[in-house]
Amino acid sequence: MSYKILNGKKGIIFGALDEMSIAWKTAQAVKEAGGDFVLTNAPVALRMGKIDELAKETSSQIFAADATNLDDLNKLVEYTLNHFNSKIDFVLHSIGMSINVRKGRHYTDLNYDWMSKGSDVSAVSFHKLMQTLYKNDAMNKWGSIIALSYIAAQRIFPNYNDMADNKALLESIARSFGYFFGKSKQVRVNTISQSPTITTAGKGVKGFNEFLSFSDKLSPLGNATSEDCANYIVMMFSDYTKKVTLQNLFNDGGYSSVGVSQEILDLIKDRKE
Ligand SMILES: NC(=O)c1ccc[n+]([C@@H]2O[C@H](COP(=O)([O-])OP(=O)(O)OC[C@H]3O[C@@H](n4cnc5c(N)ncnc54)[C@H](O)[C@@H]3O)[C@@H](O)[C@H]2O)c1
Repeated sequence: MSYKILNGKKGIIFGALDEMSIAWKTAQAVKEAGGDFVLTNAPVALRMGKIDELAKETSSQIFAADATNLDDLNKLVEYTLNHFNSKIDFVLHSIGMSINVRKGRHYTDLNYDWMSKGSDVSAVSFHKLMQTLYKNDAMNKWGSIIALSYIAAQRIFPNYNDMADNKALLESIARSFGYFFGKSKQVRVNTISQSPTITTAGKGVKGFNEFLSFSDKLSPLGNATSEDCANYIVMMFSDYTKKVTLQNLFNDGGYSSVGVSQEILDLIKDRKE
């Protein structure tokens, strides 16, 4: 399914670690739609991951940047502007990490150094990225910036831990910075709130498989896959969504609007009988 709706558009894609990553699928879909991009990830992820394969497949360059480091972000933006010899049309922030989740710390017993590191990587990095793009006047008019979120920003999911707080901050930063980006540079900023998806980051959440199945049974269309997310991002990078900004957009098969589904009720009934 490709209509070349990104022909001539240039951008930056953060967060492709391996072929399971949402950013990986997005890079493939953006390329298919005619877009070009620089791939970036933290130096340690570049050493451990397989991004070289993706760069080869999509004829892209790779530039290392820790998204919490302003110097790295400045160098990345400068490199991208020089590489394309033009401003940028789209940016994907597909970054998330919580040490408390990774180490199994309960929400009532958080390690605050880990919490602040997780917040810096998962949320504040989005502000740092947009501030760097803004100050360098790096975005073309009608450009599009997307970060990935999860519904735990609005509702409680006990095992999502401090990532819920990170996502709430991420969504708020999208609205706050999006206002100024819209006003002065006609650039739109949105978050996409994605279904649970099997990836390295996703699998880190305790009880993930049960949770994936619960979500699938609650959503009338079933969970959105990483390919579905990639296609949505392509549309959000295209000129078909020029006036969509400051939104948190659910790509979740309808999950966010459902109270309970018949499938879940049947499961509970079966267990009782
Ligand atoms: N998988 C899910 O269930 C799910 C659901 C909703 C939203 N999301 C969000 O989607 C995004 C992508 O995650 P994913 O599921 O594809 O997992 P993933 O593990 O493939 O991607 C996370 C990426 O963040 C990168 N990263 C971590 N620290 C970084 C740093 N300091 N600088 C730059 N990059 C850094 C990692 O290297 C990795 O590439 C995240 O924001 C995640 O929270 C995931």
